[in-house]
Amino acid sequence: MGAAMSKTPPRTFHVKSFGCQMNVYDGERMAELMAAEGLTATVDAASADLVVLNTCHIREKATEKVYSDIGRLRKDDPAKMIAVAGCVAQAEGEEIVRRAKVDVVVGPQAYHNLPKLVADAAKGEAALDTDMPVLSKFDALPARRKVGPTAFLTVQEGCDKFCTYCVVPYTRGAETSRPFGEIVDEAKALVDAGAREMTLLGQNVNAWSDDDGRGLHDLIRALDRIAGLARIRYTTSHPNDMTQELIDAHRDVEKLMPFLHLPVQAGSDRVLRAMNRSHTRDSYLRVLDRVRAARPDIALSGDFIVGFPGETEAEFAETLSLIDEVRHAQAFSFKYSPRPGTPAATMDGQIAPEVMDERLQRLQEALNRDQLAFNKASVGRRCAVLIERRGKLPGQMLGKSPWLQSVHLQTDAPIGSIVEVELLSAGPNSLTAREIPSPPVSVAAA
Ligand code: SAH
Ligand code: SF4
Ligand code: F3S
Repeated sequence: MGAAMSKTPPRTFHVKSFGCQMNVYDGERMAELMAAEGLTATVDAASADLVVLNTCHIREKATEKVYSDIGRLRKDDPAKMIAVAGCVAQAEGEEIVRRAKVDVVVGPQAYHNLPKLVADAAKGEAALDTDMPVLSKFDALPARRKVGPTAFLTVQEGCDKFCTYCVVPYTRGAETSRPFGEIVDEAKALVDAGAREMTLLGQNVNAWSDDDGRGLHDLIRALDRIAGLARIRYTTSHPNDMTQELIDAHRDVEKLMPFLHLPVQAGSDRVLRAMNRSHTRDSYLRVLDRVRAARPDIALSGDFIVGFPGETEAEFAETLSLIDEVRHAQAFSFKYSPRPGTPAATMDGQIAPEVMDERLQRLQEALNRDQLAFNKASVGRRCAVLIERRGKLPGQMLGKSPWLQSVHLQTDAPIGSIVEVELLSAGPNSLTAREIPSPPVSVAAA
C-alpha cells in the first residue's frame, strides 16, 4: 500500500456517510466502535485526525464524489489519516490506493477490524481488508449507545437477485439474515437508549428468514412486544418477497406504520426482464392490491430507473402509466448509470444522456404531482406525529406522520414524544399541523 510512512495514531475521528440507510447504519456503528477505542468524534472532517469516508458505489456520481473528497482532504492536511469504507472500498479495493493516497481501505463486511487497520496504518503498514466473513462483524461490535427518537437496525444484508444494472450483490455479498435473538436484543438496547421508532434494514429486508422458519413478519411481531417502542418500519423490500404473512402484519400490527417502499424500476415487462427483476408489471400491481386490501391507508413508495439500455419511448410511457395507476406518496428516481462489471453496462442500446434527462424530468413531474396530491389528501386528517427535531421558527418542532411525511407544528412537546395533531396544510415536501391538546385527566365524577 501507499502508506509507507508512519503517522501519529489518531485521537479524533469523523465518519462521513454517502449512501443508503444501511450505509448510514454502518457509519453509526463505526463511530461507536472508534469511540469505544477511546477516540473522540469531531463535528467535521477538517478538525479530525482520522476521517472515515463511508462510501456508496450505486451510481457513478456517488463513486466519483469520494475521489474529489479525498483530493480535497489531502490538499488541506497531508498528515490526516484517511480511511475509505463502504461499497466503493469493497468494489475497488487496491484501485483506491492506486488512484488516491489513502491509509485504510475497509469493506462493509469487515469494518469491525477498523481499529486494527488504523493501528497498522499508523505503523506505516498495509491496511486493507475487503473480506466478507458472513455476519461475524456484528459479534465484534460494541453495544448500541445511539440516542435519538429514530433508529436504524440492520437485520439482513446482501442480495442474490442480481438485477443486471446493480452492484449491490458484488459489494454486499450474498443474502444473509442476522439471528432473531440478536436482532431483538439490539432493538431493546436501542429503545433503552431512547429510540421510539425502529426501521429494520436490509437490501432485501423482506427476505429475512431463519432456520426455524420465521420470516420478517415474526420479527415485526416480536418487536411489537417491546414496551417503549412505538413505531416499526422496514426497508427495502423486493416485490417477490412480499409474503401474505407480511402483508397481514400491516393489517394486524398497530405499531407497523402504514408505509411501504417497494421498488419497481420500470413499467414495461420487456425492460423488467432485461433488468432481471423477476417480477412483471402485473405481478407488482397485484402485490399492491393485496397490500391495500390489508391496509387501505398505506402510503406507497418506489424506486425508478429511466434510460435502461434499449428502453424505447413506448416502454418509458409504460413506466408513466404505471405511475398513473399506483399514485405513489413518494418515490426515488434515477438515470441509469452503467456500473463496471454488471451485465447491463455492456448491453446494446445505451441511451443518450439528453434522452435520459428528458425522461427523468417527465417521470419526476408525474411523481411530484402524485406526492403533492397525496399530501393534500391528508389535510384534515388527525394522526400521531413523532417529534424528531426543532424547526427553524421559535417553538416550532418537526416530526413525521405515520405515512412518513414531514410535519411542522408549534408544540412544547420534547423530541421523542408523540403528539396527536390535525393536519392543516400541505406542500410538496411537508405539511403543517396543529396539536390537539390531550384531554384533561378526568377527575372522578361525583
Ligand atoms: N436493495 C434495494 C436498493 C438498491 S439500490 C433494492 O433492491 O431496492 C437503490 C436503488 O438504486 C434501486 O432500487 C435502483 O432504483 C437504483 N439503482 C441501482 N443501480 C442503479 C444503476 N446502475 N443506475 C441507476 N440507478 C440504480
Ligand atoms: Fe440491486 Fe436488484 Fe438486489 Fe435491489 S434486488 S439490491 S436492485 S440486485
Ligand atoms: Fe450504496 Fe452500498 Fe448502499 S452501493 S446504496 S452504500 S448498499
